[in-house]
Amino acid sequence: MVSYDSDGVKFSIDPSNDTDEYRSSVLRAPKQPLIVVPERLLNTTMPIFDSSLVKESDSDILHQHNGEPLGERIRVTGRLLNSEGRGLGGQLIELWQANAAGRYRHAVDDHQAPLDPNFTGAGRALTGDDGTFSFLTIKPGAYPWKNAPNAWRPAHIHFSIFGRAFTERLITQMYFPGDPLLAFDPIFNSVRQERVRNRLVANFDWEATQEEYALGYRFDIVINGHLGIPLEGQ
Ligand SMILES: [Fe+2]
Repeated sequence: MVSYDSDGVKFSIDPSNDTDEYRSSVLRAPKQPLIVVPERLLNTTMPIFDSSLVKESDSDILHQHNGEPLGERIRVTGRLLNSEGRGLGGQLIELWQANAAGRYRHAVDDHQAPLDPNFTGAGRALTGDDGTFSFLTIKPGAYPWKNAPNAWRPAHIHFSIFGRAFTERLITQMYFPGDPLLAFDPIFNSVRQERVRNRLVANFDWEATQEEYALGYRFDIVINGHLGIPLEGQ
């Protein structure tokens, strides 16, 4: 996605596919120009989703098991918007995240932190007619990674917006305000413009809280335009 700075110079708001400070991105970034798949192939060969399979309860990550997960309950809500600020309804939004201790339920996560038997860390929702989505979950913990000695990722939630077909899928990450690890995170800082990367930081929002139950954060996902959010792998 492109934007323009105050001097009228065009720049991409999306992080580069390879960023020196983010070591593994250099190894996996494409070395050849990307190939655009003709749309007629997309229409016939790509996976699509059946919206009737998405249940209301799929967005409640607190009640997927017999008991409730440990951690700070939060509601994450926002709107999926196009460049003109119009809500995009009927879109599939998925999220995945670490548990409160900073551990993913994933075979290759060997972080020495406990798994939570009541937390899978994945949910999905269809946006309402005005683009609204809402998830009930746990605030994820920070976790160490091997990008550099004693490197830690700030708390974050991964988001996917599916689009009409798999090749239109958009990926981004949401962060939490005031996290001291943001300044040191090469993934967050691979978005070079401060005002643009700060769009990835959710806002604490009293309206989104649930009294005596959960704190609330607002995270609008704007596709393109002057308020567009940075997207990964573009
Ligand atoms: Fe992550």
